[in-house]
Amino acid sequence: MKSRASFVVSLVVLLLPGSVFAQSDPGIRTGAPAAGGPLGSVAADNPTTILAFFNDGKDRFEEVDSVSATIPGEDGFGLGPRYNSRSCAACHAFPATGGTSPAINPQITDATADGAVNVIPPFILLSGPVREARFIFFTDPLGNPIPSAPNGNVEALYTIAGRSDAGGCTAATIAQPDFTSAISHNNVIFRIPTPVFGAGLMENIDETTLLNYQAAASSNPFGIAGTFNRNGNDGTIARFGWKAQNKSLELFSGEAYNVEMGVSNEIFQNERPSPEEDRASGLANPCKINPTPEDHTNFNTTAIGTVSDAVQFAMFMRLLAPPARNKNEPGGASSINKGFELFEEIGCSVCHQINLGPDPMASRITPDLSNPAPNMFSDLEIHHMGTGLADNIAQGDAGGDQFRTAPLWGLGQRIFLLHDGRTSNLISAIQAHQSTGSEANAVKLNYDSLSAIDQQHILNFLRSL
Ligand code: HEC
Ligand code: HEC
Repeated sequence: MKSRASFVVSLVVLLLPGSVFAQSDPGIRTGAPAAGGPLGSVAADNPTTILAFFNDGKDRFEEVDSVSATIPGEDGFGLGPRYNSRSCAACHAFPATGGTSPAINPQITDATADGAVNVIPPFILLSGPVREARFIFFTDPLGNPIPSAPNGNVEALYTIAGRSDAGGCTAATIAQPDFTSAISHNNVIFRIPTPVFGAGLMENIDETTLLNYQAAASSNPFGIAGTFNRNGNDGTIARFGWKAQNKSLELFSGEAYNVEMGVSNEIFQNERPSPEEDRASGLANPCKINPTPEDHTNFNTTAIGTVSDAVQFAMFMRLLAPPARNKNEPGGASSINKGFELFEEIGCSVCHQINLGPDPMASRITPDLSNPAPNMFSDLEIHHMGTGLADNIAQGDAGGDQFRTAPLWGLGQRIFLLHDGRTSNLISAIQAHQSTGSEANAVKLNYDSLSAIDQQHILNFLRSL
């Protein structure tokens, strides 16, 4: 491999005297979104059955919520008291509904929508990415983190105070979290949305397939040894979220509806607590305006109308097709093929694996969910990624520096990269794999030792996904 690489370099230097080739991230692929539609077997189905559920789920995923659904153009119900944005699709937007952060951050508009009076925290920028914030530790009254009290909860950016539909909920009865203090004490970390294309295939992968792959990969020469984040009570393998902290799409839907939008539901029944409520001790919180759960099974309506939003969000995500690869762009087919070979040779694919092996788990929902998930480029394991990527938040079995191997499908149309969206550049994302304690250090050094042209092949391959 080495001699071939240096041969290519010297050839180019020979052909282009004076010019030195420098590799670069080709950037996002333009053109139509390579994702957003249903699985083939869903699209091919009788449109009044499963496809109708997909379309209805998508509509609900795109609905903008108000507190009481009395605002024209906003048809969802139950926003707040605290929220990060007003629809699932606001954050899961690019390159199509179900994706991740768009170029223009909707959280700027969210801050003051319908009369809300929120201060926009300094880490929320119009140029993105969409961010969710978590505090690492609980704090004392002066805002000092208490090292013996790990926190990790999502701190919603905004409140409904001031909105035209917020009734007696005002800035005097509910406050935004103190982000200024958290920033000054280095006590806040960020997460960007993960895309949900192909999520049903990830959900359906059998545990045997994952465990067999883990065993097969354990003899790798790069020192990589991933583990699984297991669900607390039943011990099965969890797979969703940056740390694989969440077991299923329905669970994630219920939790996201409550955490991101403040909509209580049958999976998460309680509005998120606020300190103001404690202070009011026993008095009704004027910011908790609706009876609970705000989203629930609707009785005596049409078949689809019966189902709650949380269940329909999950069904929409489950039936979404994975992103389609482009085998010619950028850089041409031979460069992309070469890039894939090198990606495997230097060890990226131990974690970002294209083929986890046969998957015996048939799905009763739709035939295409019985397929394995090729092209996901993830082992769904959590790996130690070192001090440079650590966010010091523990979730389930995942410690402060452990993250799920980010699935790379759809990477060709991703604007923001890594769990906190710190970069939009593939090269920086690869650099970030190396720091003290990272399982990817040896592989990253292999990458560094490639010629600029070989690195370019890998970058072209990544943007073809
Ligand atoms: C404010 C932006 C925001 C909104 C609104 C939002 N999400 Fe997310 N979503 C995120 C972030 C951030 C993550 C990553 C969370 C983590 O792992 O810490 C995420 C992750 C997910 C995942 C995990 C996918 C995977 O493979 O890791 C699912 C599923 C999901 N969201 C569903 C939903 C649904 C359903 C809604 C609407 C009820 C929703 N989200 C609303 C920001 C948002
Ligand atoms: C030890 C396992 C491991 C190896 C080896 C590895 N990665 Fe990763 N990769 C991860 C994890 C985990 C993340 C998510 C890290 C985070 O967001 O903090 C990630 C993230 C990425 C991302 C960003 C994806 C996103 O959704 O933002 C890219 C691009 C990437 N890896 C490419 C590569 C390439 C190229 C190689 C080989 C040079 C490689 N990786 C080797 C585990 C690995």
